[in-house]
Parts: sequence; C-alpha cells; structure tokens
Amino acid sequence: MKLKIAAALALSLAALTPTMGVIADDDPIAARQAAMKAMGAALRGGDTSTVAAKAAELKLLFPEGSTSATSEASPKIWEEWDDFIAIFDKLEADATAGAAVPVIGGSCKACHDDYRVKKG
Ligand code: HEC
Repeated sequence: MKLKIAAALALSLAALTPTMGVIADDDPIAARQAAMKAMGAALRGGDTSTVAAKAAELKLLFPEGSTSATSEASPKIWEEWDDFIAIFDKLEADATAGAAVPVIGGSCKACHDDYRVKKG
C-alpha cells in the first residue's frame, strides 16, 4: 500500500514537472522580469554585451496587453509601442557600442519613468 502511494506520487510529480516548465516559458511577464534583473546585474558588472543581448531579448517579451496584478508594465506600452521599442533599440545600440554605464543607465530610467508603474 505504501509503495503504491509512493509510486502514484512519483508519477504525478513526473507529470507535473514538464507542465510547470511550459507555464514558465509561456509567461512573458515572469520572463521579462527575470531578464530585466539579469540586465541590471550585467550593467553593474560592466558587461555591456550581455546588456545588449538582454535588450534584444526583452523586445520580444512584451506581447500586446501582457500585464497583470503584479506586473509593473504600464498599458501605455501598447498605445505608444514605437516609442517604447525605440528606447530598447537605443539601449541595445549603446550597449553594443560599449557606451559608458551612465549613458546606458539613462535608457533604463527613461523607459521606467514612462512605462513602468511602481507597485511598491
Ligand atoms: C523600453 C523600456 C525599458 C527599458 C529600456 C528598461 N526597462 Fe526595466 N522595466 C521595464 C518595464 C515595463 C518593467 C516592468 C515589467 C513587469 O513588471 O511586467 C521593468 C522592470 C524592471 C525591473 C524589475 C523586475 C522585477 O523583478 O519585477 C528591473 C530590475 C529593471 N527593469 C531593470 C532595468 C535596467 C537595469 C535597465 C537598463 C539596463 C532597464 N530595466 C531598461 C521597462 C524597461
């Protein structure tokens, strides 16, 4: 009996794991929050090529209307999409060119001021 329960548990866990992986991959909000954090760490470490790669990746992580109770993404993003993406483009270009950290940081701030709604 005990064995049966353990086997059933192992089976249900095995069934659960791939599903959770899919959810994480399909969650652009969690993915972009993680990418933003990684970009911040790269910037602090002066790793501008990682900043550029993350900026390129992030442009794909704001599908239309993807906001939530915990997301700090402003709905203005999708009303002013071209302006929003232009900031990522500038960030990517500056980081690719190895611009100074304060120059790159200016793009972080410019976007956060307009398109990120702080929730605490
Ligand atoms: C073009 C817009 C844009 C640029 C450029 C940008 N961000 Fe963000 N950032 C956002 C938005 C929007 C959010 C909120 C995302 C959400 O919660 O869905 C965010 C969230 C964050 C967060 C919080 C992530 C979390 O865990 O909730 C950090 C940290 C961050 N950004 C760092 C940076 C750094 C560092 C840079 C520059 C190297 C940068 N960002 C550039 C738009 C931008």
